Amino acid sequence: MPVRSAAGGRTRHADRAAPGPLRAAGRRGRDPARRERGPVSLLEVRDLEVHFPIKAGTLFQRTVGAVKAVDGVDLDIEAGTTFGLVGESGCGKSTLGRAVMRLIEPTKGSVKLDGQDILSLSERRMRAVRRQFQMVFQDPMASLDPRQSVESLLTEPLRAHKFPGGSAGHAKRVRELLDVVGLPESVVNRYPHEFSGGQRQRLGIARALALNPALIIADEPVSALDVSIQAQVINLLKELQERFSLTYVVIAHDLAVVRHISKTVAVMYLGGIVEQAPSADLYRQPLHPYTKALMSAVPVPDPNVEETRSRILLQGDLPSPANPPAGCRFHTRCPWKQASRCDTERPTLRELPLVAPGHKVACHYAEDILAGKITPHEVKPEEVELTPAAEGPGSIEATEAHVAGGLTPGGPPGAR
Ligand SMILES: Nc1ncnc2c1ncn2[C@@H]1O[C@H](COP(=O)(O)OP(=O)(O)OP(=O)(O)O)[C@@H](O)[C@H]1O
Ligand code: SF4
Ligand SMILES: [Mg+2]
Repeated sequence: MPVRSAAGGRTRHADRAAPGPLRAAGRRGRDPARRERGPVSLLEVRDLEVHFPIKAGTLFQRTVGAVKAVDGVDLDIEAGTTFGLVGESGCGKSTLGRAVMRLIEPTKGSVKLDGQDILSLSERRMRAVRRQFQMVFQDPMASLDPRQSVESLLTEPLRAHKFPGGSAGHAKRVRELLDVVGLPESVVNRYPHEFSGGQRQRLGIARALALNPALIIADEPVSALDVSIQAQVINLLKELQERFSLTYVVIAHDLAVVRHISKTVAVMYLGGIVEQAPSADLYRQPLHPYTKALMSAVPVPDPNVEETRSRILLQGDLPSPANPPAGCRFHTRCPWKQASRCDTERPTLRELPLVAPGHKVACHYAEDILAGKITPHEVKPEEVELTPAAEGPGSIEATEAHVAGGLTPGGPPGAR
């Protein structure tokens, strides 16, 4: 299969066993027979749950509850595209990302990578599959060992996964990786602390690319960077995606970060996806009351439009994921809440083919809200329970931090 060389722009035949330039084709989800059937889902997630047990007791630990960090999530991520995942702090974004890669063992559900059910794989087979997906983290300083030189950091995954070519092949590969992320060869003997934040993130990306992954999960990849550097890193991610047909899941609490890079954006609230749509549709016409509130807090550059916009100020704290509200998780704060169904029946994520094709929303009254048949009302803040403070070793801590990080009457944190 002809592929474009990352380093030299030449074409060659892809050979999994051969060392050398990064491959642009031969990716998972690129099987022509599957491609003919329309867009290919590289990643399919069904009813995924990650419940962290809450333990209590000093001598005999017993489970007294569970933090439902991810609670019934379905995802279909098309090969070669970017899927943006947004939501406020503590809603379960990172846990979902890690569970998809089996860095955290899910409690329930299924995860298929290019049709292969990865949750049923043995540790040995999982190790082989793991090279197909990589993570880019928020803080490269924390994810890169400060005692390792660039050469050592980039060679490590090659050695661990027996990347062919021996020492010479690995050295060549390291230089190719530096080239594709825009760093000069001369940095190979430097250490992470000698780089700026943006350069460190480039190193993190180079390391993630080392094994030719199909899927990269970038968890808040630019949150720690200055705005000008954020744009450079986002542009680099876009460029690499086009060059190597990568599939991304980009996690962010900042709506602006995912807006332009994502084909599809999903909004998460308290362990579940509440809305999912093509990026432009979601920003043009948010349908879920929670997304409406998030969007209403994003400033518009035009001062005339900004002045006339109405803000939806959410009342009340973010409930604890250890004790989520019954029915719709958002009903304790929803200005459109109705007397029936909202507090008894959990809405499923469903498409609205007649009024908004391709747009999915988990709200019983989405059509009526869109048509203006029901209007927002004042919400009386309800008292919410914090996660019970568990005792003893191995127990988790109460989630007050997440309540503190939740939406406040002044608008959501990070919704810029
Ligand atoms: N290892 C763990 N044990 C127990 N609870 C956990 C663990 N990891 C995460 N949680 C809890 O799961 C919930 C979701 O956490 P997660 O880190 O996935 O949220 P997030 O959306 O990524 O937040 P942030 O934007 O702050 O990174 C939180 O209530 C958190 O306290
Ligand atoms: S289901 Fe009810 S509470 Fe939930 S978002 Fe819709 S209107 Fe609000
Ligand atoms: Mg996180």
